[in-house]
Amino acid sequence: MFKVPPVSVARLPALLRKMPKAELHIHIEGSLEPELIFALARRNGVSLPYADVESLRRAYAFTNLQSFLDIYYAGASVLLHEQDFYDMAWAYLERAAADHVVHAELFFDPQTHTARGVPIESVINGLHRACVDAASKLGVDASLILCFLRHLSEESAFETLEQALPLRDKFIGVGLDSSELGHPPEKFARVFARCGELGLHRVAHAGEEGPAAYIWSALDVLGVERIDHGVQAVQDAALMQRLASDRIPLTVCPFSNVKLRVFPDLQSHNLGRLLEAGLMATVNSDDPAYFGGYLNDNFVQTFAATGLLAPQAYTLARNSFEASFAGEVQRHRWEHQLKEVFESFSEHDY
Ligand code: HPA
Ligand code: ZN
Repeated sequence: MFKVPPVSVARLPALLRKMPKAELHIHIEGSLEPELIFALARRNGVSLPYADVESLRRAYAFTNLQSFLDIYYAGASVLLHEQDFYDMAWAYLERAAADHVVHAELFFDPQTHTARGVPIESVINGLHRACVDAASKLGVDASLILCFLRHLSEESAFETLEQALPLRDKFIGVGLDSSELGHPPEKFARVFARCGELGLHRVAHAGEEGPAAYIWSALDVLGVERIDHGVQAVQDAALMQRLASDRIPLTVCPFSNVKLRVFPDLQSHNLGRLLEAGLMATVNSDDPAYFGGYLNDNFVQTFAATGLLAPQAYTLARNSFEASFAGEVQRHRWEHQLKEVFESFSEHDY
């Protein structure tokens, strides 16, 4: 076991920023900054119901998940061509590199685009090309996870899977997102079973606004390997036991949870409680352009608000590698780099 060296509170933000980390819960459409939305709208001749960047930003006052999703889907309407998807993903990957993200698994929502007549090839090829370039030009290892929109039907999810299968080598897994309440994981049992047969990794949003029961069914009905959000698990002691003993990762998104009013403020967030209970929590940005910051902002502000310290920083970064779908050799290399950064911050150097 690595003994985490003592690091003063004053130097903690710098350590949080510099430590290598993986981001496992980022909706790439949620990284579209207002400036890029307007640039793409101009490039593609799409008209928006907002006069300018400032009035769009003013609309980012959410009261729950649905109030966010309505604006998020409107923002994505400017994406039409393969290059648009490339530009969006590249902008995120550059920011990720600056945050010392060494590995990212990007969610994307094909149905948001195919419903507007955009070919799925434009979506996947554009995003994938950005991931390939990120490895060679930024040193960021990135892969794609195709998400089904849970407010749409099982039939639509199956149709999307069929459309995507010719591009099977360009994504590593499937997820489930969009409006949670009223759309339990069971609705997609057969789609996820098929994805399992195809050898795709499986994850699902559960226990963000929805009940702990949705986390049970994501695990036991959909067979997922990770739970996205999962913060409602604290409502159910038996579920907490299960998540801890099976080392099921939770991809927690503190800024998102506050902006969508799952918690009233960062101080009240239960990340520390999840870690204390031995759960494999990770920190992620979810939709950084909408929720007020990227991954390092989430780390620094959540630590400042909740009083987490260097040992939790180490655990969260190490969890992000262990919970990732990257190969073992790469994971071990990043874990080694993580230890080196912590050692370089040791107070004993002074
Ligand atoms: N939850 C559900 N669906 C989403 C989210 C989220 O936080 N972000 C983008 N789609
Ligand atoms: Zn999400």
